[in-house]
Amino acid sequence: EVVDIDASAYDAGEHESYMRKEILEQPTTAQAVLRGRLDERFGTAHLGGLDMDARDLRAVRRVKILGCGSAYYVGQMGAALIEELARIPADAEAASEFRYRDPVIEPDTLYVAVSQSGETIDTLLAVQEIRRKGGRCVGLVNVVGSAIARECDGGIYLHAGPEVAVASTKALTNMFLGFALLALQLGRVRDLSIADGKRLVAGLERLPGQIEEVLAAEADLVDVAKELAEARSLFFIGRVRGFPVAREGAQKFKEISYRHAEAYQTSELKHGPLALIDPEVPTVALVPSDELTERNIGALHEIDARQGPLVVITHEDVDLGEIGARRIVVPRNEPELDPILLTIPLQLLAYHAAQHLGHDIDKPRNLAKSVTVE
Ligand code: G6P
Repeated sequence: EVVDIDASAYDAGEHESYMRKEILEQPTTAQAVLRGRLDERFGTAHLGGLDMDARDLRAVRRVKILGCGSAYYVGQMGAALIEELARIPADAEAASEFRYRDPVIEPDTLYVAVSQSGETIDTLLAVQEIRRKGGRCVGLVNVVGSAIARECDGGIYLHAGPEVAVASTKALTNMFLGFALLALQLGRVRDLSIADGKRLVAGLERLPGQIEEVLAAEADLVDVAKELAEARSLFFIGRVRGFPVAREGAQKFKEISYRHAEAYQTSELKHGPLALIDPEVPTVALVPSDELTERNIGALHEIDARQGPLVVITHEDVDLGEIGARRIVVPRNEPELDPILLTIPLQLLAYHAAQHLGHDIDKPRNLAKSVTVE
């Protein structure tokens, strides 16, 4: 089942960087994580590598996700998916903090370790802590046979192929899709209806093509990215499903452009950061078409009234009215799956900002692709 590309044979080719190559590979790599795992007939997913039967899956009362950096933020997206589809309490935590508070390990909690490399020491030590205390831990890992993959009770390989750029793109997308598959399976052994299951399977099947659509509009983003690159400090804001997307967007931006980028819940803006908004501080806002659109637009008005420059990642049907903003439109999927389509333009914005600033995109200063020592 494992199809891993030989990393030594992998080079950036005609691309100016691995990061750009990896961004553009996503329509293909996204298909690889879904391949053979979707069940159209029953509207569910099959994840043999989890090594859990329907009874084991039904016994799960809580899900705790652990990862570092981007893997932690996508873990938050995954927690939201699991809560929505399976109605099980789920949350994500930075693996680097976990073991320091003598965590309570529960037998009916499913622990999920997320890691591209499978070698991040903080995540590995979290897995060891869980297993030492008798918990079940499964992995969402890209590198086959890596330390975390070996340490876990089972897992979902991400099949994104080798990822070289420090800033994770295609592996992160596949982490999200891995969570969607897990959430679907956990949901379908509970109360998620077959109709909803089928709706989500169809949504997942549409996603790779929609990622391609977002990438095809890359040229429209370049000028926006250059403008953002000029700012010393910027905000990324989103709500509920959109907040982890904002965190991941800020992370990418700071990693490779070296600008101070801070993620905030749109709802918390008025409780502090609004004091910082002025014409020098741009905000990248995630405003999908959903039950929070009107409230999100209310917050945009507050920013606009203070002449804060705005870039809005949104859907076609969202009307920003009088608000002065650069609008970046992504296609709609099912609302639960939209976060990953909102993430793709943020990769491109970070990439083109860093490119404009002339930075070493694949190897940003002070960072390593995977941190394997404490
Ligand atoms: C490093 C990188 C991050 C990455 C994190 C987790 O800190 O700079 O970009 O998200 O490790 O890596 P992993 O291989 O565990 O996903």
